[in-house]
Amino acid sequence: MRERAAQEVNPKMGRMGAEDPPRIFSAEPVGDIDTDEFRAAAHRAVDWIGDYLETIRERPVLSRVKPGEVRASLPVVPPAQGERLEAIFDDFEQLVLPGITHWNHPRFFAYFGITGSTPGILAELLCAALNVNGMLWRTSPAATEVEEVACDWLRQALGLAEGFSGVINDTASSSTLYALAAAREAVPEAELRRRGMSGVRLRMYTSEEAHSSVEKAGIVLGVGQENVVKVKTDAEFRMDVAELTRAIVSDREAGFIPFAVVATVGTTSVTAVDPVNAIADVCARENVWLHVDAAYGGAAAVLDSHRWVLAGCDRADSIVVNPHKWLFTPIDCSVLYCAREDLLKQAFSITPAYLTSNEGPAVRNLMDYGSSLGRRFRGLKLWFVLRAFGVEGARARIAAHIEMAHQLRSWIEADPSFELLAPSHFSTVVFAHRGGDAVNESIHDSVNASGEALISHTDVRGRYALRIAIGNLRTTLEDVRATWQLIQNVAPASSPT
Ligand SMILES: Cc1ncc(COP(=O)(O)O)c(C=O)c1O
Repeated sequence: MRERAAQEVNPKMGRMGAEDPPRIFSAEPVGDIDTDEFRAAAHRAVDWIGDYLETIRERPVLSRVKPGEVRASLPVVPPAQGERLEAIFDDFEQLVLPGITHWNHPRFFAYFGITGSTPGILAELLCAALNVNGMLWRTSPAATEVEEVACDWLRQALGLAEGFSGVINDTASSSTLYALAAAREAVPEAELRRRGMSGVRLRMYTSEEAHSSVEKAGIVLGVGQENVVKVKTDAEFRMDVAELTRAIVSDREAGFIPFAVVATVGTTSVTAVDPVNAIADVCARENVWLHVDAAYGGAAAVLDSHRWVLAGCDRADSIVVNPHKWLFTPIDCSVLYCAREDLLKQAFSITPAYLTSNEGPAVRNLMDYGSSLGRRFRGLKLWFVLRAFGVEGARARIAAHIEMAHQLRSWIEADPSFELLAPSHFSTVVFAHRGGDAVNESIHDSVNASGEALISHTDVRGRYALRIAIGNLRTTLEDVRATWQLIQNVAPASSPT
């Protein structure tokens, strides 16, 4: 192969000179797929998306494929020759779609119900076309500056103080990891960046209800699971501040360095709100970094009625809010607000010669605020979403979700076979049938197998609980009512034990 190619004559360059290295391939550009073919397929895709969103109710929410089924329907080996976009699109519809659980379905009530809204979808398309890597300001000034503007608009919409600067990461897990890396930099005597964790006994604190990403960050940062202290919660699942204080004081006496507390506004399981103000008092007294995980609950602060959920957050060192959860932005989009951005930068900035640039302090190079160099232009979709809905539009939609959850609570309260297991400050309701864990598990499985709706479950103080989270823009009160009726229908008729 190599010999034959070496003897070929390139019509543009003539026969190669004796001193030229042997040619292996033709240098003729082969190029991208033809733009006309792209246009046809893209028009079809946009129409398909419109139809998909309009008729999504007709699809089962939870995919019905068996493990390995999608894989088995696809060739084991890659195509030797390129295929037409049309044909690939056909297979997307016939082979891939059956294996999709429809997160954009109005009866998707599991985990946290979310929406990839149409302005967000449009921005994702444009983002892919631009294919920008926003690692440095100069690698696309607009990628940095639109992100800065969108994060600041969101900050204002949430009523957060001006001192917070935002940066977009893929997920809250990354945002929390980076915030805690910055928190370590606030322990100067440890010189962590240079010396690593050797000989340093750091401890961080969060509640027993905190998201697993907090513990994971502790593992990744080398703090170690044992040093992620899970503080007990009160009757409303909020961090017990007296217990937090005791833990920090006794750990300090034992030679540990307490370096961070992670409070949560809207815990994953029951959406509890930790007392951030009281926790901020402890952090100020103990000189410990305060990070607030408001990945889900933060969005509610757009409403005047719910501003209180972020009370005390202005005293935090960092806060994460996920527009991809309850702010209608397609996955992935997590905003990390940091009041001490210098420390975030200190944790991550490293500039080899090939990445130096001469704009100086007039610009932010976003590669400096996290572990990855390359970064997508995620600010574009947040900017599209905030513009398309406006702050008032976001308020109206979030208020409607909270109201639907309120209605659902009243129906649950009116049914003696069921009970509420936690307060609901947001749009998530956690409850159980009084018949016990096996009954609740069977309700959960039957609802989801029906394809009519998707709910999730959790553990509430050792009990199997059902969980409905409303967060889709197409969800109506009728969807919530129908799902509640379905739950009642599949529940055993027998009297509660
Ligand atoms: C409170 C909270 N924090 C963090 C996360 C992690 O979010 P992500 O998937 O963006 O990492 C979740 C996920 O549901 C969450 O509920």
